[in-house]
Amino acid sequence: MKIKVITVVLVFIGFTGLFWISTSAHSHTGSKTISVAPDTSIHWDKMDRSERMAYMKQVVFPTMKPLFAAFDPKKFGNMKCITCHGNGALDDSYKMPNPQIWKLPRTKEGWAKADTNYMNFMRTTVKVKMADLLGLHPYDKDHKDGFGCGNCHTDEQ
Ligand code: HEC
Ligand code: HEC
Repeated sequence: MKIKVITVVLVFIGFTGLFWISTSAHSHTGSKTISVAPDTSIHWDKMDRSERMAYMKQVVFPTMKPLFAAFDPKKFGNMKCITCHGNGALDDSYKMPNPQIWKLPRTKEGWAKADTNYMNFMRTTVKVKMADLLGLHPYDKDHKDGFGCGNCHTDEQ
């Protein structure tokens, strides 16, 4: 009987201890945690590397993966950082654009050969959503410095 009570008390102390540790750990890092809500108040350009890393992991990747997976479950159901970043995800540079994915054609004929389904998906979903997540304006004729195809794809040689 006594042993049971002691066990219960010990378990209780254990749990409150854990709770205390997890809440204090949270409040300790709380002040340094960046805002990870996917909205346009994000200042990607001003984020340092660790903030960018956290934002990619917590917001960009979890938002973009389901979009790619819905477009082509077979190809993107298992999407990873490497799908966009290529070798940059392996050497930890995460440098973009990524020369390992499809290259943007330089000619009209080249563009005409591009897969139409992909083109629509890239134009209407990927570019726009990604720009939004990074708090950047999508590239268009009035926003030549906006976020566009060239932020992920390199140009054909
Ligand atoms: C849908 C494509 C996509 C996926 C998936 C993706 N990223 Fe990114 N990532 C980008 C783009 C585009 C940029 C560059 C934005 C810019 O032009 O500044 C970037 C930039 C970064 C940067 C900053 C690099 C720098 O030079 O400042 C880091 C770090 C990063 N990504 C990490 C990750 C990690 C970790 C994952 C997986 C959890 C990931 N990314 C998944 C598209 C992606
Ligand atoms: C956030 C990064 C990102 C942006 C922005 C982006 N793409 Fe892509 N694109 C990708 C990834 C990742 C793939 C898949 C690459 C792979 O699997 O090899 C892809 C694939 C494609 C393909 C299919 C190539 C093939 O395999 O046939 C085309 C075409 C394409 N993109 C065109 C565009 C165009 C045009 C734009 C601008 C309107 C654009 N992309 C913007 C990341 C991006």
